[in-house]
Amino acid sequence: MAKSKNTAKVVSLANQKGGVGKTTTAINLASSLAKMGKKVLVVDSDPQGNASSGLGMVAKKKKDLLYHCYVDGVDAQKAICSVDGFKSLHVLPTNIDLIGVEVELMSAKKREKYLAALLQQVKKNYDFVLVDCPPSLGLLTINALTASDSIIIPLQCEYFALEGLSQLIRTIRLVKNTYNKGLYIEGLLLTMFDKRNNLTFHVANEVKSHFTKLVFDTVIPRNVRLSESPSYGKPIQQYDPSSSGARSYDMLGKEFLKKQKNKKGEA
Ligand SMILES: Nc1ncnc2c1ncn2[C@@H]1O[C@H](COP(=O)(O)OP(=O)(O)O)[C@@H](O)[C@H]1O
Ligand SMILES: [Mg+2]
Repeated sequence: MAKSKNTAKVVSLANQKGGVGKTTTAINLASSLAKMGKKVLVVDSDPQGNASSGLGMVAKKKKDLLYHCYVDGVDAQKAICSVDGFKSLHVLPTNIDLIGVEVELMSAKKREKYLAALLQQVKKNYDFVLVDCPPSLGLLTINALTASDSIIIPLQCEYFALEGLSQLIRTIRLVKNTYNKGLYIEGLLLTMFDKRNNLTFHVANEVKSHFTKLVFDTVIPRNVRLSESPSYGKPIQQYDPSSSGARSYDMLGKEFLKKQKNKKGEA
């Protein structure tokens, strides 16, 4: 393992493009790891709150959310909820109020290190913390990258998949050089692969030829069950464990764990 045993490895799901599979991967990689007995926390760091609702959090009307941890100094532990049906899967939920963090912390000291400090209190309770980032490179994403050991970058198998990637990599380098020198890229993950569409083969091959070993072997197929499961507040492994989506996220979980033994990605 890259990390000592008593503290979680923190991994951000980041790409400033929306709709590439960050949230779907945060939810379903987390549940796959939890199913394999790992203790996992999902931090919903996108004001849209899709990871929270996708893990069944809407109904619970929580008083303390990630926003209150950032702005009111609430302990992360107080805001964390368990996910129904899992022994070791938790979520630090969010709602739209989280948008306020970008403004309220604008002139705060060490404003890029709030999430790292918050997670410090709870990391000992987990093997992995997955941070679902918003589709921007603003303060919430900078906090996520500063708090992380590594990054998974989901890329949708569509024509403009690589657009914006150089900007993301520049931001990662900036955070690495300024706030978090150990930060590295865990891997690029190809998502929404559609074997009936020639273009997706072309895009997948291009990404693999550019980034070679940095690309996860596991490719996530386009699967309608993956898009349905959030509306039931369930990860795919609960909603439809026999679907191609569930099988591929289980494969990703295994590949991810294997990578932890071999270490390491790149920055
Ligand atoms: N592999 C997939 N197959 C089918 N639909 C998917 C897949 N991955 C994501 N989706 C759907 O695509 C949309 C965008 O995915 P999402 O994970 O929310 O992206 P992001 O968090 O990067 O904005 C969502 O409606 C989601 O349900
Ligand atoms: Mg999202």
